[in-house]
Amino acid sequence: MDVGTLRKQLSTTVLADVYRFFRYALPDFVLNRIVRTMRRGQVRKATLYPFRLLASKLKRRPRRVMIDLVSVCNLRCPMCSVPPDIAIGATQKKHLDLVEFKRIADELEGHVTDLSLVYSGEPLLHPSFKEIVEYAKTRFYLSTISNGTVIKGGRLEALVDGIDYLQFSFDGLSKESYEKYRVGANYDSVLANVNAVIDAKQRAGLGLPVVTITFLVNSYNEDEVESARSYWLENRGVNYFFDKPINLNVHRRSDDKKEHDLVHWLPRKSKMTLYKTDEASGAIEVEKKRAPCSIVQTPVIRGDGEILMCCHDLNNSVKIGNIENNNLVELWGSQKYATIRERGANRQYPICKVCGK
Ligand SMILES: C[S@@+](CC[C@H](N)C(=O)[O-])C[C@H]1O[C@@H](n2cnc3c(N)ncnc32)[C@H](O)[C@@H]1O
Ligand code: SF4
Ligand code: SF4
Repeated sequence: MDVGTLRKQLSTTVLADVYRFFRYALPDFVLNRIVRTMRRGQVRKATLYPFRLLASKLKRRPRRVMIDLVSVCNLRCPMCSVPPDIAIGATQKKHLDLVEFKRIADELEGHVTDLSLVYSGEPLLHPSFKEIVEYAKTRFYLSTISNGTVIKGGRLEALVDGIDYLQFSFDGLSKESYEKYRVGANYDSVLANVNAVIDAKQRAGLGLPVVTITFLVNSYNEDEVESARSYWLENRGVNYFFDKPINLNVHRRSDDKKEHDLVHWLPRKSKMTLYKTDEASGAIEVEKKRAPCSIVQTPVIRGDGEILMCCHDLNNSVKIGNIENNNLVELWGSQKYATIRERGANRQYPICKVCGK
């Protein structure tokens, strides 16, 4: 039996749950959510957290809501998960107004514990990113995902003082492989930016934000995964490093490229893939997943106010409502939304067949 198979089998045992609890859940819950947040001066947020979490566990509230701050990007990654030019809301509004953000945050406060400040595009391009974080940081656990290209104008301080979970996308440990996927980015400048944030976090000495590096594994960078893992975890002391399978995202393209045009991106040696490929017939299939989908538990408020079932339903194929004239928490409690969550969890919508989750 090879290591991969053994790992797969172990991952379904109780032992794996115990490991995950001590490795991830306990430090997250006790250290970051309670101890470190209190040391940051966010006492109310930390104290109320267990009660709000319980409400979400009882299915009465969403725990986390994603908010689409911007629908523009300065990069052109060839298979972007949420291409700004495809997300329908993007054509209407480039930035969510600060006033509108505050209204949404006020509505969700006391109900939702976490806001993810990311969806389509690059969130740090929002002109009021700093003010958004300042407004929300004592009320919610804030997370965001960034390509790390724009860390100026007070953004570094906002990330270090106000964001709880920060994920940088960094797909390569050489200029060549990194810039192959991150089209438009400069390797040296992004590396310097990410390291500047890590250094500032270490100087602040609070252990926040939790910093994660994600590495999308493709055929051009697959040999660098282990060196990247050791660079980020051992040399730079980030909290987590996740290698992630790349999605070809053909259903989200504005051109007519199909799987066979993009198959060259799929890793050849790594098992980190969502696809089964058959060299002889050229067939490419999405691997089937068995566990219920949990992503449907996180609604997205798109730039035009539409509430999306999940971050994969870019075109709003499953209608829930608009935040302009609906209260998200009330909708969440409705029978209609409960049914949508159940059907999403069981992957019963057409979009679920192609989303790769
Ligand atoms: C759409 S981006 C938005 C945030 C930011 N612009 C960035 O790239 O980090 C959010 C996430 O999608 C991931 N992503 C991009 N292309 C992907 C692909 N083809 N398959 C899977 N994930 C992808 C990125 O690595 C990132 O973690
Ligand atoms: S940086 Fe993020 S949003 Fe921009 S194109 Fe790349 S994956 Fe998409
Ligand atoms: S399986 Fe369905 S509910 Fe889950 S992420 Fe995909 S589209 Fe969304």
